Amino acid sequence: MTPSVPSQEATALLDGLRAFIEPAHVRVDPESCLNYGRDWTRLYVPNPLAVVLPGTVEQVQQLVRYANDHRLALVPSGGRTGLSGAAVACRGEIVVSLDRLNRILDFDPTDRSVTCQAGVVTETLQNFARDHDLYYPVDFAARGSSQIGGNIATNAGGIKVIRYGLTRDWVTGLKVVTGRGDLLDLNRGLIKNASGYDLRHLFIGSEGTLGIIVEATLQLTQPLREPSVMVLGVPDLDGIMALYGAFRGRLELSAFEFFSELALRHVLKKGLHRPFETATPYYVLIEFENPEQAQTDEALALFEQCAEQGWLADGVISQSEAQAKELWRLREDISESISEHQPYKNDVSVRISRVPALLAEMDELLAREYPDFEVLWYGHIGDGNLHINILKPANLEPATFARQCGAVSEHLFEILRRHGGSISAEHGVGLTKKPYLHYTRDETEIGYLRAIKQAFDPNGIMNPGKIFDGSTRVPTSPSKTS
Ligand code: MLT
Ligand code: ZN
Repeated sequence: MTPSVPSQEATALLDGLRAFIEPAHVRVDPESCLNYGRDWTRLYVPNPLAVVLPGTVEQVQQLVRYANDHRLALVPSGGRTGLSGAAVACRGEIVVSLDRLNRILDFDPTDRSVTCQAGVVTETLQNFARDHDLYYPVDFAARGSSQIGGNIATNAGGIKVIRYGLTRDWVTGLKVVTGRGDLLDLNRGLIKNASGYDLRHLFIGSEGTLGIIVEATLQLTQPLREPSVMVLGVPDLDGIMALYGAFRGRLELSAFEFFSELALRHVLKKGLHRPFETATPYYVLIEFENPEQAQTDEALALFEQCAEQGWLADGVISQSEAQAKELWRLREDISESISEHQPYKNDVSVRISRVPALLAEMDELLAREYPDFEVLWYGHIGDGNLHINILKPANLEPATFARQCGAVSEHLFEILRRHGGSISAEHGVGLTKKPYLHYTRDETEIGYLRAIKQAFDPNGIMNPGKIFDGSTRVPTSPSKTS
């Protein structure tokens, strides 16, 4: 348990913060504490001591040094669209919001790179790139509220990984304030830099446990050439990866997603329309570059061949950008459309070659273990990444539901371990996956993770209790003032 300090001491600590951060940006009102103390998991009760919004990098540094002096726990906070509880503050921590560090600082057309502060919203950066006839390809449904710093801290993936990779692949420079309070300027936008350990990559995916990302330099690229979208109705699980094999070889794919009919029904309830008459148990969404008639012809020929094989039962291809967007919504809107059912989320991955075996084993396991729950499948299957969502029955208490699903997850993770997969493909570990980390990383490896944490954050003030529990000491975090 985290020891608490009397509220008088907490008041003094807050006064100390206000000495170097404008008082209006040290918030303790219940609404700010609620909003900034949670992410999209909604499993934990937010309970931060305060929410602090630094306006300069110097203030971030002062804050980290102050936290070290007083052994205060800090939770870095971006758009809080995460799904693993990594940005949750439920133990009297101080939330450090990057909202005010939201400027694009530099753009270089020769380098095709942009430097921005951590609080820039993903979509703002995407639009900035578009305005310069370029493209920032990391993309996902939470683009309108997620922030670049948070994307980097979770190594966000999303819907274009099959073509463009993860956030990691686009970060050429990072400025971070370490848990010791040092400001590091990592890699400085270089494409090539063979001068020893690349600390930048330790911060990518570190979930705020090593320090605070304050600035990033990101590579931009050429926009996609006339992308088209196909949605195909798939009669059985085996068809999904058969289609992947067929389409991947002959078209330049920028997405290969899938979802189940059960998942589709939730977005239909929110007002979207079926892509075509035929309902099938599964669907795939394929996006591909389609600049010339040759690609359209190829796609249609593939459609015919796959239909003959029985891998698809029906399909549609977009005829305009607006239609492509509508088709994308069938997949992208699933997460939001089911949020009212407080889903238990699994976000797992294996190598692509193992997906068919994983699908078959998971299908058998989930049908056996969840006879009474609604289980929805969707995800970035072209990357080997599946999202399994179990919807909470309205009458079931959340803690009981989470416990039951957690027990089934152990079976699922055993299967994953056998296939060399991961318990978290793109949502991170945070709090929700912490108990299961050992399925993906062995104790020896976790020991190295702890040693890295110790080097950057010797007092354990940075997002304590996320990814793994502290091995040396639990930092003191004060109780909430009344
Ligand atoms: C998605 O792929 O839709 C996101 O990762 C969100 C989710 O898994 O619910
Ligand atoms: Zn996803």
